[in-house]
Amino acid sequence: MSRSQGAAAAALRREPSPPGDEGREFEFSDADFRALAKLAYEHAGISLGEGKRNLVYTRISRRLRTLGLATFQDYRAFLSQDRKEIENFINSISTNLTRFFRESHHFDHLREHIAAKFISRPLAARRLRIWSAGCSTGEEPYTIAAVLQREIRDVARYDVRILATDIDTEVLRKASAGEYGVNSLEEIPNIYREFFPVARDDSGKGQIFIDEATKELIAFRRLNLMDPWPFQGLFDAIFCRNVMIYFDGPTKENLIERFTNQVKPGGFLYIGHSESLLGRHDGLQLVGRTIYRREA
Ligand SMILES: C[S@@+](CC[C@H](N)C(=O)[O-])C[C@H]1O[C@@H](n2cnc3c(N)ncnc32)[C@H](O)[C@@H]1O
Repeated sequence: MSRSQGAAAAALRREPSPPGDEGREFEFSDADFRALAKLAYEHAGISLGEGKRNLVYTRISRRLRTLGLATFQDYRAFLSQDRKEIENFINSISTNLTRFFRESHHFDHLREHIAAKFISRPLAARRLRIWSAGCSTGEEPYTIAAVLQREIRDVARYDVRILATDIDTEVLRKASAGEYGVNSLEEIPNIYREFFPVARDDSGKGQIFIDEATKELIAFRRLNLMDPWPFQGLFDAIFCRNVMIYFDGPTKENLIERFTNQVKPGGFLYIGHSESLLGRHDGLQLVGRTIYRREA
């Protein structure tokens, strides 16, 4: 090999493999993709179309490296033998992007229509149940908690609970820890900063540490939305935002019907910005941007 050919070969080795290129670290056949997409659908309702091929390759390649496996076929065999790997597989496949006060108009609505009205209720009726379904790393339920704490100053005195669930055990671990980089403060309006205390170490590096009083308002649980739900009562509000985008039409339809039945008459369902139900759905009335009220 000439010197220039050698340099070109070395440059190629340094370059990341472009998507769809044979130079990929692992061979990834149609059958591999189809088998993994089928598993994601069967276990989590997550619908992975052709456009997600590279996503699956990239995320599952990490599992292959961690497990020291040489091929996707080996990984598929491992998945069928070790049922615990399904959990890691789903954790790897799920997309967990979130932030504090995401789609902030939902929290203005929560403050005005639920939190502010709470105090005027008779003492015996001061009970509130809110569900953050698909809570990811916790920013959504902690935002809900901050809104309730600011509006209902002595909230701990009342029967107020936020249930925060996700299928991904890894994000739930982070959510329960309640520790976030200080950069996340930028997402939080000034009036709510008091609920996101920052501690700094000797070098001045800061971290948000959610306090115990806030954590006590929230129960983090693993729940696959595709499974039967273990609830006895209904919720005053359900947040299921930016979760249904990963599901296909029939799965989404079914879920919306279940959410409708799980929210109290007069209660609210908040969905993500790209998840409009086209203005109406049986039993639900559109009352704001991506906000639905269950008919009383
Ligand atoms: C993009 S995050 C949305 C987080 C937050 N709700 C928000 O809007 O910022 C989607 C979350 O849905 C969860 N998810 C996906 N499929 C699920 C299922 N079948 N059951 C429960 N959670 C699921 C994922 O693990 C992920 O954390």
